[in-house]
Amino acid sequence: MSDAGSVPSDNDTRKSKSLRPLRELLGFLWPHKGRLIIASAALVFTAMTQLSLGYGIQILIDQGFSNQSEEGLRRAVLFMVGVGFAMACGSFIRFYMVSWLGERVSADLRRDVFNNLLTVHPGFYEKNHAGEIMSRITTDTTLLQTLIGSSVSLAARNALTLVGALILMSLTNIKLTLIMLIGVPLTLLPVLYLGRRVRNLSNKSQASIASVGNRAGEVLQSIKIVQSFQRETMEREVFEQEVSRAFDIAKKRIQQRAWLMACAIFLFLGGMVGMMWTGGQDVIAGRMSGGDLGAFVFYAVMLGTAFATLSEVWGDLQRAAGAAERLVELLHQESNIPDHGSSPIPHGQALVARDLSFTYPARPENPALSDFNLTIAPGKTLALVGPSGAGKSTLFELLQRFHDPSEGALTYGDIALADFSLQDWRSKAALVPQAPILFSGDIAYNIAYGNPDASQADIEAAAKAAYAQEFIERLPQGYESEIGAQGVQLSGGQRQRIALARAILKNPEILLLDEATSALDTESEYYVQLALGELTKGRTTIIIAHRLSTIINADAIAVIDSGSVVDVGTHSELLTRCDLYQRLASMQFKETPAEEAQITSPAA
Ligand SMILES: Nc1ncnc2c1ncn2[C@@H]1O[C@H](COP(=O)(O)OP(=O)(O)O)[C@@H](O)[C@H]1O
Ligand SMILES: [Mg+2]
Repeated sequence: MSDAGSVPSDNDTRKSKSLRPLRELLGFLWPHKGRLIIASAALVFTAMTQLSLGYGIQILIDQGFSNQSEEGLRRAVLFMVGVGFAMACGSFIRFYMVSWLGERVSADLRRDVFNNLLTVHPGFYEKNHAGEIMSRITTDTTLLQTLIGSSVSLAARNALTLVGALILMSLTNIKLTLIMLIGVPLTLLPVLYLGRRVRNLSNKSQASIASVGNRAGEVLQSIKIVQSFQRETMEREVFEQEVSRAFDIAKKRIQQRAWLMACAIFLFLGGMVGMMWTGGQDVIAGRMSGGDLGAFVFYAVMLGTAFATLSEVWGDLQRAAGAAERLVELLHQESNIPDHGSSPIPHGQALVARDLSFTYPARPENPALSDFNLTIAPGKTLALVGPSGAGKSTLFELLQRFHDPSEGALTYGDIALADFSLQDWRSKAALVPQAPILFSGDIAYNIAYGNPDASQADIEAAAKAAYAQEFIERLPQGYESEIGAQGVQLSGGQRQRIALARAILKNPEILLLDEATSALDTESEYYVQLALGELTKGRTTIIIAHRLSTIINADAIAVIDSGSVVDVGTHSELLTRCDLYQRLASMQFKETPAEEAQITSPAA
């Protein structure tokens, strides 16, 4: 399997050649076998009652009409009313049980797929769009729900009807049955041919509608960029093209379908008339009763409809098998971050990167880190500086085990990170990312995200430590204020401070700050800096920073370039001996002369 696994896109075949993937669903049906048995019994029962209507027709014609007997008519009517009632009861049970199973299984599947996706390595989502995966969880499970909730039952019911009708037909009149058995395949060939084309087109049509949806979703999500770069007209045109492409495919499908319908109706009725012609002659000649012919025609209609339904359902089954295949793939997608470690986790150890190399699967030719050596002393603050793209954020990814090193090792107190359980290890560290990531919900929910049991007092203390308390309390609903999807209702600086409060509340031993202040205005930055001063005390802190004010307060500074550590030292040491550091520092001095004084004083 490739490193991140790969999900076939919408353009790939939407259905599976074999129905084998559906077998996986049996595992989901098994826990509900009681209902499955009731549903199957009801299914057989209704199919049988339906067929027995033919017998009613026979009595109706032979005993009622032909004999002109009121008694015979009454008997036939009573029989049919009884059958009708039995059929209604059976259908009620069948429909309820079967639909219940469909809903239950798709809900279970959805839940299990999501549970598995939560544990998959983040790299998986770089190759596979979260949006597309989401649509699989919704549309593919819905397909399966229809499958179990109706298609399978339809197929079984019609297969039963088909066989039953055939048996009853041969019992009624073997000659007519034989004629029909020879005639039917001839008439069905064109119908089957057209049917296949319709199905292919309808798969295509589904795929093109999905791509219309993806396009619209992406554009609407980024509406501000679209409007500010005045791409509305262009986006409108692109979208229109997608829509009309979908329409063209749909048009072709409708055309084929119309042909299919016309052919089927004509051939079917033609067959019926032929049968009545042959059978009618037998009735006139007295070789067959009118009731028998009536019943025979009824069975033939049942057989024809059952066959048509089956051929239609076959396509559904294949499509559902395709859906099942894709879901099962997600269900079994394994994380490439193994979680087998069980070493007891020590405290207050140094973090060491030894000959560390790492290459992103998406960039096999460019290692993001190579021969990276660094020791991070416990309880100290280490600043990482270096040009953009040097590999600073990548180190954070490895430290949190979102990726594992390609070569070399990352250890905590001489134990490789992979030897701890993921939960143990990740509970030690908290990240304040470059772009704060918040969820829809209120402020308290977002602050307590890493520690849901926190009390209101804890939350407020964390907010206070992150210098967020003041702006939160000024909001009309305070801590209960909703912040919108991804926190859009807050300013960048406010979002950053919520993210900081979230890290504070987790109270981690290791704190990872990725340019936590770079996106901030001066005032927010000032507050965040104050908060950081408190927060980093007594914790192992690694801070990726551009602002020299952050850097000079660090216990050590590591200069990173092109994926390796160039030098480690204090600000003044590096200023005297590291070219790259001098360059980075001098750019800062030019940019922010106000900081120059700050920086030179401790160096002096
Ligand atoms: N998810 C990714 N897939 C492939 N390449 C990546 C990915 N993330 C970062 N890179 C590449 O790895 C290198 C280091 O990136 P990064 O660690 O983000 O740099 P920075 O020091 O600016 O934080 C860059 O060349 C970047 O293009
Ligand atoms: Mg970065």
